[in-house]
Amino acid sequence: MTESERAGAAGGQHWSPDYYRRWAPYVPELGRDLVELLDPRPQERVLDLGCGDGALTVRLAERGCRVTGLDRSAAFAAAARRRGLEVIAGDARRLPETGLPAGGFDAVFSNAALHWIRPPAAVLAGVHHLLRRGGRFVAEFGGAGNVAAVRDALYGALRRRGIDPAARDPWYFPTAAAYRGLLEAHGFAVSEITLFPRPTAVPGSITEWLRTFATAFVDGLEPRVRRQVEAEVQAVTAPRLRAADGSWSVDYVRLRFRAVKQ
Ligand code: BEZ
Repeated sequence: MTESERAGAAGGQHWSPDYYRRWAPYVPELGRDLVELLDPRPQERVLDLGCGDGALTVRLAERGCRVTGLDRSAAFAAAARRRGLEVIAGDARRLPETGLPAGGFDAVFSNAALHWIRPPAAVLAGVHHLLRRGGRFVAEFGGAGNVAAVRDALYGALRRRGIDPAARDPWYFPTAAAYRGLLEAHGFAVSEITLFPRPTAVPGSITEWLRTFATAFVDGLEPRVRRQVEAEVQAVTAPRLRAADGSWSVDYVRLRFRAVKQ
């Protein structure tokens, strides 16, 4: 595995279910209309890939699906199990090794997870393996230009300290054309794929956002340097992301698609 693939496996990103619930409740909230795109039917077997703490997975269960969650973070998997869900702590790049049945799912669903996982080809091969023929893959994640103001500010703050940000960057934000090509190359027919901006109001400031989602960029740095980087990112992004009343938004760009296994 290359250095960038290791970063893409979200190494250095530390997940805290409590922190996530406090500072990112909008993630499962905004994923609700993705459930409508999935259009789940009772008794369908659905895999929620990168289910996090299961906040959206329970919506699939409420719709009568036989849903399994999968998350690489043991802390998230445990939090999702506490909601009464069936969850596997596993690596989305190695789905055939999870023990889940080949062709055993009617649909694979994923919200706000695929941008954490590189190489994407390994995920797509695994999803194809788990779906029955005609099964749907419906997902949304960060697309090209996602969180660009924050990412640019992080790159600047790290480079000014002689640190290579690219080696720490865990995020994968493809264009619609690039991801469509990948889906098709892995045996999917794409019925819908859209890239759209979704600036999103966040609770707290950009510093809480960084502490929830961007720990990989500062992992292992001295606490004093981490605080300097956070303060610098806050100062650089404030003109674009902080409103006059002091509230913050983040410049999210979503890539959303529906594809069918051929
Ligand atoms: C996203 O949901 O697009 C996202 C969240 C945190 C970091 C990067 C991307």
